[in-house]
Amino acid sequence: MIQTAPIQATTQSELTREMSNRLHTALSTHLQQAYAPDARKQLRHFSATEAAELLGVTGQFLRKCHSDGSIPEPEIVKKSRRFYSGAELLAIRRVLEDGSRTPGKYIPGRRDGDKLQVIQLMNFKGGSAKSTSAIHLCHHLALSGYRVLAIDLDPQGSLTGFCGIQTELEFDGASIYDAIRYDDPIPMSDAIIQTYFPGLDLAPAKLILSEFETETAVNAGRGVAFFERLHNAIQSVESNYDVVVVDSPPALGFLTLTGLYAASSVLIPMTPSMLDLASTQQFIEMTSAYLEVIEQSGAKLDHDFFSFLITRDDPGDIPSQQIVSLMRALFQDRVLASTGLRSTGIADAAMLKMSIYEVNRSEMTRTTYDRARASMDAVGAEASKLIQTAWGR
Ligand SMILES: Nc1ncnc2c1ncn2[C@@H]1O[C@H](COP(=O)(O)OP(=O)(O)OP(=O)(O)O)[C@@H](O)[C@H]1O
Ligand SMILES: [Mg+2]
Repeated sequence: MIQTAPIQATTQSELTREMSNRLHTALSTHLQQAYAPDARKQLRHFSATEAAELLGVTGQFLRKCHSDGSIPEPEIVKKSRRFYSGAELLAIRRVLEDGSRTPGKYIPGRRDGDKLQVIQLMNFKGGSAKSTSAIHLCHHLALSGYRVLAIDLDPQGSLTGFCGIQTELEFDGASIYDAIRYDDPIPMSDAIIQTYFPGLDLAPAKLILSEFETETAVNAGRGVAFFERLHNAIQSVESNYDVVVVDSPPALGFLTLTGLYAASSVLIPMTPSMLDLASTQQFIEMTSAYLEVIEQSGAKLDHDFFSFLITRDDPGDIPSQQIVSLMRALFQDRVLASTGLRSTGIADAAMLKMSIYEVNRSEMTRTTYDRARASMDAVGAEASKLIQTAWGR
């Protein structure tokens, strides 16, 4: 039951324990209401218009494929309108790819010799939309036909929550910590779970992940270098995926650095404000110093792209647009051309731990939905293009 009486505590530890208990109860109640009755998320179905758009074909082409029986019928057809599950869309992709003269048109993932893409989102500025950008990227890429693994390197577990696992409620499965810890690590494959979102797997995070910071300090110089631990874990499952998306904590500690070493590309989400600009400068300065230390140990770092992503962008706000212009002048194509627009649609979806892809268009004001969706689609498509470029296409 939620307590609202003033807290009576005699010590600070009692006070903070009671605060934590109250928050835990409030969160559990909110989450149980949001996901009742069995607290499991499911991906919604997509209309025929959305399906055609996601597959990159016209509605007419999709109908023709159904009428000549070349693609499977979805299970749900209401009043002769078709509704597709994520799994059904993937199955259709495979059939279309088999019949296509352009390889990779419907299944854009790796081919022989293509290296796994590991994209890390990092910035030590809290709230720069790392996790929000990460989940939208994961969903966009999975819906586009890539095999995606999300790795949550933040002990707060925001990305894990977006993937339908509520670490605030009971969750006793293995997590990424177990695969990179120093004592008796488990195989990475045992730390990965399938999510409810077809094409997306997750290595979840729990609070215990923060132990990696202290354990790394204690174990310095022994065994495998700390920065290689995530890389090695990912290598053991690399053939199962096309893209790995790594979310990092708002800190430049050992967790972020092991991610940085594992990454083949880096995105720095940044909200265009003066404070964020200053903080991002400090972050890059520190990153550079740490990278130098890693490089001096003989390790080679090579990133296909190392770019900024403007987040919570508000084109109507002049001061913030001056910062966007400055960033573009300083770093040209190292700032993604598309930006994550500030949108109540994204914020409202996030309250339910959802991406905009999970929300039904009819549940929001149409213009709000369309604007948010177009912005996230553009960022996802640009990332996809960078991935294809890294594969030489
Ligand atoms: N495009 C957007 N429009 C509106 N709100 C947004 C948008 N992107 C993110 N937010 C909101 O901004 C807040 C911070 O986002 P998020 O949690 O993704 O940041 P973060 O960098 O992962 O934070 P942390 O540093 O704590 O890990 C959240 O409340 C989120 O809902
Ligand atoms: Mg986060």
